[in-house]
Amino acid sequence: MTEVVLNGVGKVFPGDVHAVRDVHLRIGDGELFVLLGPSGCGKSTILRMIAGLEEATSGELWLNGGVANDLSPRERNVAMVFQDGALYPHRTVGGNMMFPLEVAGGDRAEARERVAELTRALGIGSMIDRLPGTLSGGQRQRAAIGRALIRQPSLFLMDEPLSSLDAGLRTELRLEITGLVRSTGTTTVYVTHDQVEAMTMADRIAVLRDGVLEDVGTPEQIYRDPATVFVAAFLSSPPINLLQATAWAVQDRGVVLDFGPQQVTVPWNDARSPALISHHGGPVIVGLRPDALTPVAAGEAGRTLAGRVRVLEFHGHDWLAYAEAGIPTVDAAAVGPGPASPGAASSGTAGAGPGRERPGPGGLAGRVRGLIRRPAPPEPVEEEHAGHHRRSDLVFSTGSRRPERGAEVRLDVDLDRMLVFGPDGRRITAVRR
Ligand SMILES: Nc1ncnc2c1ncn2[C@@H]1O[C@H](COP(=O)(O)OP(=O)(O)OP(=O)(O)O)[C@@H](O)[C@H]1O
Ligand SMILES: [Mg+2]
Repeated sequence: MTEVVLNGVGKVFPGDVHAVRDVHLRIGDGELFVLLGPSGCGKSTILRMIAGLEEATSGELWLNGGVANDLSPRERNVAMVFQDGALYPHRTVGGNMMFPLEVAGGDRAEARERVAELTRALGIGSMIDRLPGTLSGGQRQRAAIGRALIRQPSLFLMDEPLSSLDAGLRTELRLEITGLVRSTGTTTVYVTHDQVEAMTMADRIAVLRDGVLEDVGTPEQIYRDPATVFVAAFLSSPPINLLQATAWAVQDRGVVLDFGPQQVTVPWNDARSPALISHHGGPVIVGLRPDALTPVAAGEAGRTLAGRVRVLEFHGHDWLAYAEAGIPTVDAAAVGPGPASPGAASSGTAGAGPGRERPGPGGLAGRVRGLIRRPAPPEPVEEEHAGHHRRSDLVFSTGSRRPERGAEVRLDVDLDRMLVFGPDGRRITAVRR
């Protein structure tokens, strides 16, 4: 059983490509840990460093309480599955899966039984005697996953093993993989850029961006309590509303978040107010997931936004509405972190919630310039054309009720679910006493 620790691990490729920057992570024994982030953020590089296929240029990698930087892949005893798992072409599916067990020695009949069981679980039971060349891509991938899972390594490393499969198969195998690795209790590091895969499979998720660790936590923590605006936006489907506001501390009311034509007030008894005071007169970013906005007949002062419904989308379980509200929105991709400042510390546990590690301020120097988008000029609904999802729309969920297009709506803002970020993209949270 294995614990993995990355202590300030970095990777610079030739040509000064900083693929991974000063990453601190502790992956617990038996954990199913997901590395999540957009293409090029360094996920595979981290996985390959853990496997020993790539050397870290800085920092220490610990496996089972010992520094492992210089251990060979074999000494690390890891089983790895890649996006397109390669198989031995002259061995059958069963033969491929038998191979690791043959190398390990042991009872052949038992091994055969185990192979048969696993191929059935992976939905390729009838293909056990076929050669890889006669299988579809998805079937080959399942055989490759099986070959990795049949071993009992110290560590499973999986790099987007499901990305080449169709949606239905992906959901099925996601469950299968989760079940199999959990039943063996083997520490698993799973790489994906798919937020649904990450949320549904992980014990904990690390969100990466440009080689920098932005957030670590359970799926619930990351979703409800994201460290940065990037994390909030990456883990939001349907997309989160990110609104540009100016914060004003007003004596008898609280902190007014001023969107220009509209305002929302964070009352003084809200735990975030003390922290918000330091942003008085300055820009903040307000994050509202569509389900934090509820259409109401008459809104309560200080917690209502108004708009006019422009576009409706039917999503089966509910409707999503896009309303013109004249509020400037923010593009999360343009907010922080920018390259980590050299030598900046990035360890630490300054997070919310007990036992939650949080990346430190290292890479979040924050680029403020260019993050704010001007509101699109108001446009009459009648002139609407094909293009929708204008960046100044407020997206909200209407439940099963289908609202009228062109209708004026008042939206109650769930202040508890409202996320407020500084201009550097970091969450403004309650001041901890
Ligand atoms: N061998 C290499 N030489 C130079 N640069 C590399 C090398 N391998 C990766 N990189 C660069 O390092 C960065 C991180 O790459 P990595 O493959 O880890 O990203 P990723 O998060 O796995 O992306 P994807 O989701 O597209 O697989 C990228 O900018 C990539 O171009
Ligand atoms: Mg990759």
